[in-house]
Order: sequence, then C-alpha cells, then structure tokens
Amino acid sequence: MSNEAISEARRQIEICNACRYCEGYCAVFPALTRQAAFADGDITQLANLCHNCRGCYYACQYTEPHEFALNLPKILAEVRQESWQDNAWPQGVARRFHRSGVAIAIVVIICFALLFATARWIGSAGGEGFYAILSHNMMVAIFVPAFLVPLLSIWISLRRFWKSIGGQPLGPKAGIAALSDAARMKNLSGGHGEGCNFEDEDRFTRQRSISHQLTMWGFLLCFAATASGTILHYVFAMPAPYELVSLPKILGISGGLMLSLGTAKLAWLKPKGDKSLGDPRVWGGEMAFILLLFTVSTSGLALYGAGATAWMPTLLALHLGSVLSFFLLMPYSKMAHGFYRLAALIRDAQIK
Ligand code: HEM
Ligand code: SF4
Ligand code: SF4
Repeated sequence: MSNEAISEARRQIEICNACRYCEGYCAVFPALTRQAAFADGDITQLANLCHNCRGCYYACQYTEPHEFALNLPKILAEVRQESWQDNAWPQGVARRFHRSGVAIAIVVIICFALLFATARWIGSAGGEGFYAILSHNMMVAIFVPAFLVPLLSIWISLRRFWKSIGGQPLGPKAGIAALSDAARMKNLSGGHGEGCNFEDEDRFTRQRSISHQLTMWGFLLCFAATASGTILHYVFAMPAPYELVSLPKILGISGGLMLSLGTAKLAWLKPKGDKSLGDPRVWGGEMAFILLLFTVSTSGLALYGAGATAWMPTLLALHLGSVLSFFLLMPYSKMAHGFYRLAALIRDAQIK
C-alpha cells in the first residue's frame, strides 16, 4: 500500500474528526469519531466502509480552493483500491485487472476461444440441447475449478484484510447487522434515504442506488438459478433443459432481466460521475467489469430466447465465455468490492 495514500487519508480523517459536520452521513463518520489516533489498518477499514456517495464532499467547507483541500471520497477510494490489490492472492495479477479494461477484454476473448475450440474439438457431445455442443461432464470439468480456485483466492485475501483491520471471530449478531446494511445499501443513501450525489453534482438521486440493487439482486438470483439447477440435476436426477415454470428458469429469467437493466443503467450513469471524486486510475477496469456483467446476463437471456435456432452454438460460447471470464477475474476485478465491503460492515458492527 502506498504510504502517500495512507498518510493523506490520515491527514483528512483527522480534520474530519475535529470538524464532525458530516456525522450522520454514513458509517464512516461515527466510526472515525470513536478514535483519536488512526493506525494503517483503521484507515483501510474506514476506506472499505465508505460507499463513495460523495455527500461529504459537497457538504464540506474545506474542499479546494481551501488550503485543507479535503476530498474524502477520492482519497478513501484510492486507499480502498490499494487495499484490494495489496491483499490479493497472487498479488501481482490484481493491479493489472483493476486498472485495465483491455486486460479484462483479453481474458474474455481467450475464454471464448477456449470454449469454441473445445466444442469444435469434441464435435457433437451426443447430449440434448446445449449438451449437444458441450457435454455436461465437460462443463463441470471447466466450471468447477474455475469457480473454486477464485473462491480460494478471495478467501486468502479476505483473511489478510481481516487480520490487518483487527477483525474478531465472527458472531451471528454482527453478521446479520452487516448483511442487513448491505442488502439495503444503507450507506449509499447519504444517511437520509434521498440517495447519493453521484451523477449530478450535489443533487440527491436514487438512480445509482436503484441500479446497484437491480445489479446485486439480479446477480444473486442468477446464482440461485444455477445452484437450483445443480441440485435438480444431482439430487433429484432431473437434468436440463427445464420447463418455463421451474425454479432455474424463474430465478434465471427474473435475475437476468434485473442484472441486464441494472448494469445498463450503471454503465450509463458512470460517465456522468465526476472522475476526480473517485480513483480515476481504475475507471477503465470498473467499466469493463460492468460491461462483462451485462454480457453475462444479456447473452444468457438471448440464449433462452434463441435456444432452438442456429444461433445457439454462438450464443452458448458467448454466454459460457463471459461467465468463465467473470469467475476467473472475480478476485482481481471490481467484484472484490462485494466481499471487502461486507467484511468492513461486519467489522464495524463488531466495534459498535
Ligand atoms: C456486500 C455486498 C455489496 C456491497 C456492500 C456493495 C457496495 C457497492 C458500492 C458502495 C458501490 C459504489 C461505489 C463503488 O463503485 O465502489 C458498488 C458498485 C458496484 N457494485 Fe456493488 N456491492 C455489493 C455487492 C455487489 C454484487 C454481488 C454485485 C454484482 C455482481 C455488485 C456490482 C456492482 C457494480 C457493477 C458496481 C458499479 C461499479 C462502478 O460503477 O464502477 N455489487 N457496490
Ligand atoms: S468532510 Fe469536511 S465538512 Fe465533513 S466532517 Fe470532514 S471536514 Fe467536516
Ligand atoms: S463519500 Fe459518502 S460514504 Fe464516503 S465518507 Fe463521504 S459521506 Fe461517507
């Protein structure tokens, strides 16, 4: 972690601790007022609690041209970003993917090519529907390690992060409080429910918060759809394809629609936000992550719509290639934020 970012964040946090004007805005201010001195781990924890709603920037009387030059959303975004990169395992990979949309695009293309080549090499897999292109066993052989290895990587990084912020053993009370805050995106509503100041300077809007909820819940529904399909396959010996009125289809179609809408809106809002109130170095990587999620959901929906046509093999490769890229990049892309932010909310609930 760069010492300059930590020192600059400490300088600004100490000014806030004396001022305390923004006390009710988000979880960051009550957390900082509990302390008089800030170790590096405390600063990293505060940075991961910040939801970049930007409310404190527009309220602050000490922003430039004032000599204090406060810009808390920006410096916390920088520290947060560096904390994900420094804790990542293996470490060197994260920096490239966090910062570069081009690197993400290259992985996506390689994954597509890999899946196309595998499908061609096998020829007809002899199964029905999608399994005529890529057999069920081959899908399992590719996707199970592609899911488990990134999860292991995230587990290692989170353990490092948890240690650095002085986390205690997990208890149900702190876990439930954190999940409730994350589920409502409480800290992205500026502490008063009117929304954040992301896309239209100091005007409060709920657009970003709503788009995020569509994205997050859509993603979780898609994940639940895949899990329910796996249970039907292995526990109840009911292989795909499934009827329209079945758990995998209902969860998958509703989740896919929410994820497509949410990511489309996030991609539309992102260029409107002032880059200087975030970490501009990672803008490209963040945009690529949103577009990757959009490709996962829209290609999944298109596959459902055009499953019986000649487009199916191409759409299948597009869908599976984007899902594969998403899994492989999980520990090194913006996706890390969900895990780290949840950990920071749990830690905050432990201290409160
Ligand atoms: C613990 C759960 C989560 C929390 C607390 C959380 C919080 C946040 C916050 C505060 C932001 C805006 C600030 C920033 O860009 O860092 C954000 C952005 C975003 N989140 Fe989440 N998130 C969670 C889970 C998820 C999940 C599961 C997904 C979907 C896979 C997701 C997708 C996104 C996307 C696409 C963005 C926009 C990035 C951008 O505009 O650059 N989040 N999240
Ligand atoms: S951001 Fe500015 S107004 Fe808000 S607490 Fe800090 S110094 Fe005070
Ligand atoms: S940007 Fe928003 S969430 Fe971050 S410290 Fe300021 S008020 Fe809190």
